[in-house]
Amino acid sequence: MKSAPAGRSGISAGRFRHISLPCSGGGTARQATDRPAGPPRGSDAVDPDIPATAVALRINGVPGTLLLDNRTTLLDALRERLGLTGPKKGCDHGQCGACTVLVDGRRMNACLLLAVTLGGAEVTTVEGLADGDELHPLQQAFIDHDAFQCGFCTSGQLCSAIGALAEAADGWPSHATPPGEAPSLSDAEVRERMSGNLCRCAAYPNIVGAVREVAG
Ligand code: FES
Ligand code: FES
Repeated sequence: MKSAPAGRSGISAGRFRHISLPCSGGGTARQATDRPAGPPRGSDAVDPDIPATAVALRINGVPGTLLLDNRTTLLDALRERLGLTGPKKGCDHGQCGACTVLVDGRRMNACLLLAVTLGGAEVTTVEGLADGDELHPLQQAFIDHDAFQCGFCTSGQLCSAIGALAEAADGWPSHATPPGEAPSLSDAEVRERMSGNLCRCAAYPNIVGAVREVAG
């Protein structure tokens, strides 16, 4: 059966909103089955012999619960369980930044986070940045500055840039600014703060230009 179209959140209806995925059998996964019963959901069903935990999250504004194998990273939960393929799996080792999302407003590498540690968190992926048809200012700036080629890194760049600007606004220091000086978002400052996000197409000058434009 064809699934319902994804809304503004990017999450297909029925995959996350208000659902509590049941376990199909016994074992340790039963610890998370004290919710309304229902049939196993195909690939969403958890092996009953594998420890699993129900994790309540708010993703792109949509609240819901996922029953997850305890070893599931946030990146895999987003991509494989919710169909949010904006966050990319580049290295899966915290080295490229392609998986960057915002967790409670802070940028994080989703490949390094176990989803079970994030109960109650607000997660924003690139799919949740636009306001309807209105792009986030950084998305528009990336277009205006031609700040991508293949686009593989772009979702991570965007989320990371939002986090970086928030960190700078909060006065977080960086190596580009001498101690005691207020950071100004110069090219060097933006490059330093965005250095965790690699771009194999080397669109770096354009990315810096886009971020600086939004920084004002
Ligand atoms: S995939 Fe997470 S940092 Fe590369
Ligand atoms: S645009 Fe291709 S990796 Fe960045």
